[in-house]
Amino acid sequence: MKLATIGRGAIVDQAYRSFEDLEGITPVAVYSRTMEQAEEFAKKHNVPQAFDDLDTMLASPDIDTVYIASPNSLHVPQARKALEAGKNVILEKPFAATVKEGKELFELAEKNGVMIFEAITSIHTPNFGLLKDNLYRVGQIRECVFNFSQYSRKYARYMEGIVDNVFNPEMDGGALMDINIYNIHLAVALFGKPQSVHYTPLIGWNGIDSSGVLLMVYPDKIITAIGSKDSSCDYLAAIQGETGTMRISKGSTGKMEYVDFVTPATENQNPEPEQISIDQGLHMTYEFMDFLTALNENNQEMYQAYKEETLAALEILEQARAQIPAYQQEAK
Ligand SMILES: NC(=O)c1ccc[n+]([C@@H]2O[C@H](COP(=O)([O-])OP(=O)(O)OC[C@H]3O[C@@H](n4cnc5c(N)ncnc54)[C@H](OP(=O)(O)O)[C@@H]3O)[C@@H](O)[C@H]2O)c1
Repeated sequence: MKLATIGRGAIVDQAYRSFEDLEGITPVAVYSRTMEQAEEFAKKHNVPQAFDDLDTMLASPDIDTVYIASPNSLHVPQARKALEAGKNVILEKPFAATVKEGKELFELAEKNGVMIFEAITSIHTPNFGLLKDNLYRVGQIRECVFNFSQYSRKYARYMEGIVDNVFNPEMDGGALMDINIYNIHLAVALFGKPQSVHYTPLIGWNGIDSSGVLLMVYPDKIITAIGSKDSSCDYLAAIQGETGTMRISKGSTGKMEYVDFVTPATENQNPEPEQISIDQGLHMTYEFMDFLTALNENNQEMYQAYKEETLAALEILEQARAQIPAYQQEAK
């Protein structure tokens, strides 16, 4: 994979650390809005080419794949350009804001004979696989709580009236779009589409959700998904069944760092938790490994599974987003 990257945030630095462990991924170009920044970032990561014009970069035959980690509202237009230029795309979450936009990108990829993937880390990790393999042990699942609450240092600025991208509706910001999206993916990857979706946001001064609770209701279970940028919690996800509970530390953040299984406590007995997870190392490595495999093998089975997962997550996202005042007037 001859890869170009868009964005200079912390997540892109992490991605470059993952590329070091991966044979088969060669970063060849960096894009930034200014040449000075592009060159500086390229130098930092030892990448040979820097661009400040997206069209010029996308016209380069040296690149076959583009990793897009720009503000959310730029995902669709930048991905569209890359696909039209015949490049594969690895697109940061959220893939799009609506199902219509998501489908449009997949259709464009098919038309141009390339692939597009959503970079949602959790479902590619070995610990997610181990969780799935062991899930039968909890019996009939009834309740799940997925909590991704991370106080953002940008929230203090927001409260002073300074709006960074992540709290800006014009940039598709807010807690649902930025972090509850991980919980949505976790639910879809484990249980498929829910029967109904109910989002109760806490609304900040510009109509954006600074946090919120998303209920995903299935015929036999309820997922309570919390996403917060105005308060913190220890990122625990719990899957409660009739014969036990799976507890996932950093399950909601996409890292799937630690998973254990515990049988129900009784009056006389407090059972010891049993560790299920392994030490995975860099969690981002696994999604890039999977995308590399899908591309190298032209593996349509993998591709279709990721595509269906993304479109199902977008259905939920779109319904929940309709409850956020800042997005209620939009005509996308
Ligand atoms: N998978 C994960 O765990 C994870 C974690 C964090 C973030 N993300 C995702 O990664 C993406 C980037 O997040 P971030 O926090 O790094 O975002 P960000 O800092 O707001 O923006 C990322 C980059 O986009 C460019 N940019 C910023 N404002 C812009 C504007 N108004 N117009 C055009 N370009 C602009 C900047 O690059 P230049 O100055 O070089 O142009 C910046 O470095 C988001 O989609 C987010 O959801 C994923």
